[in-house]
Amino acid sequence: MTLSISSANLPQASEAANRANNWQGLIETYRNYLPVTDTTPVVTLLEGNTPLIPVPAIANIIGRQVKVHVKYDGLNPTGSFKDRGMTMAITKAKEAGANAVICASTGNTSAAAAAYARRAGMRAFVVIPDGYVALGKLAQALLYGAEVIAVKGNFDDALNIVRSISEKYPVTLVNSVNPYRLQGQKTAAFEIVDVMGDAPDWLCIPVGNAGNITAYWMGFNEYMQDGKSSHLPKMMGFQAAGAAPFIAGHPIPDPETIATAIRIGNPANWEKAHKVQQESYGEFNPVTDEEILDAYRLLASEEGIFCEPASAASVAGLLKVKDQVPTGANVVCVLTGNGLKDPSSAIEYSVNETYQGIEANIDAVAKVMGF
Ligand code: F0G
Repeated sequence: MTLSISSANLPQASEAANRANNWQGLIETYRNYLPVTDTTPVVTLLEGNTPLIPVPAIANIIGRQVKVHVKYDGLNPTGSFKDRGMTMAITKAKEAGANAVICASTGNTSAAAAAYARRAGMRAFVVIPDGYVALGKLAQALLYGAEVIAVKGNFDDALNIVRSISEKYPVTLVNSVNPYRLQGQKTAAFEIVDVMGDAPDWLCIPVGNAGNITAYWMGFNEYMQDGKSSHLPKMMGFQAAGAAPFIAGHPIPDPETIATAIRIGNPANWEKAHKVQQESYGEFNPVTDEEILDAYRLLASEEGIFCEPASAASVAGLLKVKDQVPTGANVVCVLTGNGLKDPSSAIEYSVNETYQGIEANIDAVAKVMGF
């Protein structure tokens, strides 16, 4: 017997499946909302379209029918949300004829800048705080072909240096003070609304330089104005307690936290972030390194989601202020970077350890297993 299969017999691919299969990167998808024209030379690694994953164990801790999802932006091509901003920043730099870009970075920006700049045939200079960049991020920048300059200072010192250099020399600055970065990053808010059908009630997000919280707010506002959502979320920003200038109300000269990605004492987007907080009736709160690590381990061991420590600040923060969450609310926590970025932290702070020196035979292994 022969089986004839015509397309009419097949189930219709859902809109979501079509979208996933035909994904052309975020500039193509959200072209109408971005400052590009038909002749703009798009530099893309097909970033964006990252999953919004339910996290029931975390929702259970809060109770009261609260629903929690994580926007897992660690699944972007270089493993962090920075790819959203970098596809735009490098595309616009290419359009303007730039040959080189520069950034200061705690690691993720440098990895993204390196990948997109090299793909566009540009030199990438990255200035990093010596000794405070997670191993995976440094490895990426080097292999992508960036020229990595490690300075004896922190991120804030590095940002001051690259700002001055970009004013003096022919290199384009691609930190989040570059407005195209935030344009690209706002698309994460679009994706959340596209998948949920409306904006969440709360958005929890780690805050360093405060570019991302500003970009999300821009995205939620543009979509709301376009009638794609019925309301705006309350924006809840979380800083590491040892690097929490927004809570202190002034810059912190010597920021310290195990979450090196957000080890920032003087955020570049200070005013913008405060505007977001006021307009959204949101809050900035601190989370300790212990709280960050608890959330980091919880996400991995209970939900199967491996993010980097700075990303876990969003979940740590949500759990810290859980009594404030309205009953039945829809909450989204942003997980900004992939756990593989920082293997040293994973090994150092994991509860489990490897059983070592075990003889390579069945009895020895079974014994370790408790049989
Ligand atoms: N999470 C991760 C994983 C980050 O790498 C950063 C910033 C943030 C959160 C904070 O985002 O600065 O927009 O408030 N990383 C920058 C970098 C500073 O150089 O990679 P923000």
